[in-house]
Amino acid sequence: MKVKIGVVGAGTMGAGIAQVAAQAGHRVVLTDTNPEQLKKAEQQISSSLLKLTEKGKFSSEEAEEIKNNMAYSTQLSELQEAVLVIEAIVENLAVKHQVFTQLEQVVSPTCILASNTSSLSIASIGSCLQDPSRFLGIHFFNPATLMPLVEVIPGVATSSENTQHIEELITSWHKTAVVCKDTPGFIVNRVARPFYGEALRIYEEGLADFATIDWAMTTIGGFKMGPFTLMDYIGNDINYTVTETVFAAFYFDPRFKPSFTQKRHMEAGFLGRKTGRGFYNYQEGSVAPAPNRNEALGQQIFERILVLLINEAADAVFMQVASPTAVDLAMTKGVNYPKGLLAWADELGAGWVLERLEILFAEYGEDRYRPNPLLRRKAREQSKFIL
Ligand SMILES: NC(=O)c1ccc[n+]([C@@H]2O[C@H](COP(=O)([O-])OP(=O)(O)OC[C@H]3O[C@@H](n4cnc5c(N)ncnc54)[C@H](O)[C@@H]3O)[C@@H](O)[C@H]2O)c1
Repeated sequence: MKVKIGVVGAGTMGAGIAQVAAQAGHRVVLTDTNPEQLKKAEQQISSSLLKLTEKGKFSSEEAEEIKNNMAYSTQLSELQEAVLVIEAIVENLAVKHQVFTQLEQVVSPTCILASNTSSLSIASIGSCLQDPSRFLGIHFFNPATLMPLVEVIPGVATSSENTQHIEELITSWHKTAVVCKDTPGFIVNRVARPFYGEALRIYEEGLADFATIDWAMTTIGGFKMGPFTLMDYIGNDINYTVTETVFAAFYFDPRFKPSFTQKRHMEAGFLGRKTGRGFYNYQEGSVAPAPNRNEALGQQIFERILVLLINEAADAVFMQVASPTAVDLAMTKGVNYPKGLLAWADELGAGWVLERLEILFAEYGEDRYRPNPLLRRKAREQSKFIL
């Protein structure tokens, strides 16, 4: 029997994370202050396991064993024997501090504590602990059972042994673990910003409508979903808030400036699929708008968004947030990009990317288009990002 894992918070993420750990063979205790939420999580996990059994991923005996290895409780004291506790409660620093302060009284001194936070810094959450060297970020993507990527984020106080241990453990859960620095948005939520932001900007300039931009990114770019379809899927409230949080956390760097168009959609209640209307209309009988299939325009849109994405990926490497391989893995495994952005840059040539950014920078004179120094270096040296 493998070691015991604790998960605090049985919402969207916590239930998924608990299931992933149980499927890896661990005994798992899932806690929540709300007993109704625990019931809902148990039902959701049961029906997910049933589907996986039908698909042949597990035998019914295996599914039964996974279920038997899971316990649900409203009490943190049930986490006493855990070797790792992952917190996935509300995104509120004061509430997280309360939980971690209590947890530290319950668990053994060697138990590793982690948060699934998307937007708070690991340093700030860990600061409430007597031993912050045992604390780090373990950031799963939604839905946790399906998305292969997990960002592992040591804070300034985290011991390197604990980081390495967690990287190995998460890999043994059949997930792709990438280690990154405790900076706003970690890898994915930082590097992906231009996918949304530049698409919105192109629309705001009147160059193309939503359907045409989505068509360019899927048909010409090979992305699984266009930016507007994806924002509608994520929800404009959630996606806008991530952008705004990253923008503020980067001291209002114009590269991350949020868009009025998205804000207005959010304010109007056009949140996306969940409200029946976002950038597109999802109500019964509504007809999807047709794109303008002009190849030259599509190519221009695709290239403009792609070079901004590559510039952001280069910046994450330049600022030592993560290695080039980790950045590429994060974008292919966390948000399903068709290629790693840096491998894409290598294929096109850093000089090709730089040339297009310099044209945009000269045209607009805005910092959002300033080419990253690492990209300049790669272009000058005619070298590659991925060796
Ligand atoms: N939803 C996503 O797509 C996503 C993706 C990655 C990371 N995250 C992060 O994961 C965390 C959880 O997000 P979520 O979307 O699962 O939230 P959620 O609202 O679905 O679930 C939060 C759960 O925490 C419980 N809770 C609240 N206070 C608690 C406490 N003091 N003790 C125990 N349980 C408590 C609530 O009852 C609820 O069941 C957040 O930090 C969020 O930033 C979310």
